[in-house]
Amino acid sequence: MKFFVDTADIDAIRELHELGMVDGVTTNPSLIMKSGRDIKEVTKEICELIPGPVSAETVALDAEGMIAEGRELAKIGDNIAIKVPLTWAGLQACKVLTGEGRMVNVTLCFSANQALLAAKAGATFISPFVGRLDDINIDGMDLIAEIRQVYDNYDFSTEILTASIRSANHMKEAALIGADVATAPPNVIKAMANHVLTDKGLDAFMADWAKTGQSII
Ligand code: E4P
Repeated sequence: MKFFVDTADIDAIRELHELGMVDGVTTNPSLIMKSGRDIKEVTKEICELIPGPVSAETVALDAEGMIAEGRELAKIGDNIAIKVPLTWAGLQACKVLTGEGRMVNVTLCFSANQALLAAKAGATFISPFVGRLDDINIDGMDLIAEIRQVYDNYDFSTEILTASIRSANHMKEAALIGADVATAPPNVIKAMANHVLTDKGLDAFMADWAKTGQSII
């Protein structure tokens, strides 16, 4: 499973990138707002740091506007994936932009039917939001499993990009289901390294080592 980082925080992206943990980056208007940076400036910096797909989101609500904004965002770097919402206008924009050979990430997906439409419109990525479904007491991971089955039934090449990930457990579940990509905030990716028995075991080793009075260097 590919790891995308869901942030516009350059330092956080760099730290994970140095460990080889970053296959791509996703941003959205809220993350750009949180960064306090200019969208083109910060997205260009990310594109130069990370060779993989960098999603930048359009904000127009009509297809023409999304297409114009998508073309503008694509000028930032060859690795830009234009993000459009899963609306009828977004699907129209997706069809046009992918027809021009650009990567398109169709976002705000909450049903398998929406994912099916995105695949038919040629989406490069579909972004189902698991955390926001969990928030309303619907199991977000069930949606990932449904989309996996639908796409595999018909050999769609659209990649399932599990989004709105809130926990390390979400990462494991996405990987078990066979999502192509998971995008997560940096703290969630780092939390995957944690285990209470690792901490406990390390404490015991340190205590015993201290009793030996030895040093390695
Ligand atoms: C990713 O593309 C989405 O923008 C993001 O994962 C949304 O996450 P949230 O529901 O935690 O805001």
